[in-house]
Amino acid sequence: MIFKVEFPTYLEQAVRKITNQENISIDCIVKALEGMYNKNEENLVENYSTNYSKEKKIAYLWYYFPYNLFKIHRPLSELHSANLLPEKVNVLDIACGPGTLSVGIAEFYKKLALKNPSKSYLLRICLVDKEEEFLSYAKILLDTVKDSAPKNLKIVYSTVTQTIQPQTRFRVEELFDIICAGNFLNYYEHGKKSMSYLPFFENVLEILDEKGSLILIEQSKKELSRPLKGIRDILVKSRRCNLFSPCLVDPSNGNEKCYDCYQAFEVEIENCGLIQALVDCGANKRKHHTRHPFSYVILRKDGQKRFDKGQRSSRSVFGVVKAKSWDHNSFAICDGENEIWVRLPNHDLIRRIDTGAIVSVKSGRILCNQKEISVQCDSQIEIIREF
Ligand SMILES: C[S@@+](CC[C@H](N)C(=O)[O-])C[C@H]1O[C@@H](n2cnc3c(N)ncnc32)[C@H](O)[C@@H]1O
Repeated sequence: MIFKVEFPTYLEQAVRKITNQENISIDCIVKALEGMYNKNEENLVENYSTNYSKEKKIAYLWYYFPYNLFKIHRPLSELHSANLLPEKVNVLDIACGPGTLSVGIAEFYKKLALKNPSKSYLLRICLVDKEEEFLSYAKILLDTVKDSAPKNLKIVYSTVTQTIQPQTRFRVEELFDIICAGNFLNYYEHGKKSMSYLPFFENVLEILDEKGSLILIEQSKKELSRPLKGIRDILVKSRRCNLFSPCLVDPSNGNEKCYDCYQAFEVEIENCGLIQALVDCGANKRKHHTRHPFSYVILRKDGQKRFDKGQRSSRSVFGVVKAKSWDHNSFAICDGENEIWVRLPNHDLIRRIDTGAIVSVKSGRILCNQKEISVQCDSQIEIIREF
């Protein structure tokens, strides 16, 4: 599943401003980029961790920040369509780097605030990283987002410089609604010791609100997402939390219909001046410079799952439209295991929904076997192409 996104020009300008302040040339950035994240796990020493020089940090801003920024929109969209995103939200961004996930969350809340002008949103973010310089870039980027935020969205943030150890336990006054960590649990950061961070994530669950979500995101390459999946499995098996999404359906178990959920998710950035400038200057990092596959997981403590199979009279679904039936005025989306057919009240709506669009239906009435639902006057249907 590919999400096409555009990198905002105000963020591009902010990245260029930081680069000028640091006096780093584009040739230096290209050189630093080619030297980043290019080792294999087998060749690393046990305690390896990436050494982020100033040039590498700036290269991260130019190349990795733009597409990592939008990855969190996928889990946020799922939580939003299940009515699980609060209007006042307290966020902890673990190993935030230049504030990538925080800026992504702020951009998402900007969209929510613009769509719902009668509501007021409050986004409080605490960013933690061991690199002071990254945190100073995060401040500049978040201030830029704040400047472009609508009036009904207030963003406040604080930063903490701290090297997180496997036994680290944060002391907090208030629990968090969202705790996220992106590209932290992999061999580029911890050599062969990523799994040793299990106790840290057990402690992190203690500062997550009972109705909160822990979101972990990694590149989808097998070796890079292995610790994320390992830690997910242990936390879920020990019943410290439950898996909200994505579901664990394996098409090799005879469920071939579920390719949407099983396959990796990809972000594709259109018109990113930063990445284009690097390519023009000879950057040769990857074949597809603007597409990036990723894996994620949403863990919760309240037993909520994205696809709740309980016996109810209504249900919410969110997914990609796989088929349309003009005769029955309905369309099909995958619920993680089966095709769910959504029957629409009128022909106008079916005309507006294309195969491949991302659609969220809240409180659809269940018609038969939970596999067919109808959109009623108290249901909400939203076509979310841009997320
Ligand atoms: C690949 S960057 C990810 C940044 C951001 N989360 C993102 O997804 O773009 C990894 C970050 O983890 C931070 N990091 C690695 N080990 C850490 C530790 N033990 N404590 C705190 N930060 C750490 C690094 O400084 C770096 O900023």
